[in-house]
Amino acid sequence: MARAPDPAPPVPPVLGDPETDGWAGAAARLAEALDGVEGWLPTAQAARLHSAAAAVRAGGRIVEIGSFRGRSTIALALGAGDDVEVVAIDPHAGNDRGPQELDGYEAEAAADHEVFLANLAAASVGGRVRHVRHPSAAAHAEVSGAVDVLFVDGAHRYGPARDDLRHWGARVADGGQLLVHDCFSSIGVTLALLRILTPSSGWCWLGRTGSLAAWERTPVGGAAARVGNVAAQLAQLGWFAGNVVRKVLIAAGLRRGPWPH
Ligand SMILES: C[S@@+](CC[C@H](N)C(=O)[O-])C[C@H]1O[C@@H](n2cnc3c(N)ncnc32)[C@H](O)[C@@H]1O
Repeated sequence: MARAPDPAPPVPPVLGDPETDGWAGAAARLAEALDGVEGWLPTAQAARLHSAAAAVRAGGRIVEIGSFRGRSTIALALGAGDDVEVVAIDPHAGNDRGPQELDGYEAEAAADHEVFLANLAAASVGGRVRHVRHPSAAAHAEVSGAVDVLFVDGAHRYGPARDDLRHWGARVADGGQLLVHDCFSSIGVTLALLRILTPSSGWCWLGRTGSLAAWERTPVGGAAARVGNVAAQLAQLGWFAGNVVRKVLIAAGLRRGPWPH
């Protein structure tokens, strides 16, 4: 399975300081930090995570579910301010490791754990991230208080994905953001979001970058706004259908990648 990181976008040869160069410097620093870090998160999606993290106020909290080898973790940690807690939850146990890797990947997951720690250290964010090595359902007691940015990219089967959105989503603070990977791409994740997020008037659709979709925890007031909120999400189903067809053809060997993300 191909899982090489996508080619880095063009960046200035000399990295800037985000404090003085603004977004161009931060984007260059992010692209350099992710260079060579394996995963399924394209750089444009990493940039979206980075900017969501950068908007978290001092004293706030970011929680990631599903870290793999650290691409998304690094993006979140580099975006977060010094006074923001960054928690990464991943059991690195060998289940639900990636596309078509549901069970029996214990040896690979042990390597993932080592590489995850090394990748964070290489990006100079090892000390910024608290890794909770549990499945998300067993990790609630390890995180206290509300969550300002929740990124969900753990087990993609319907049951655990639904539970992540329901139970961890309930911990997102008013005005906080929920970002979910493989939306309208993975069948399990898409059914889960259609069950938990789309019908809710407490989650306002913000849009998506590829399969990375975002919602804000805020009341969607008024019947017209609620209908518009649901309609905007249902409008993604055509793209979802195309992704399912592409995956079936790739899995059957009738089409070459890349796997849709
Ligand atoms: C698709 S990968 C995550 C990719 C990662 N976000 C990145 O940017 O490269 C899925 C990860 O979820 C983890 N995982 C599987 N079941 C989990 C669970 N119940 N709770 C949290 N993480 C889980 C796997 O160990 C795997 O590392």
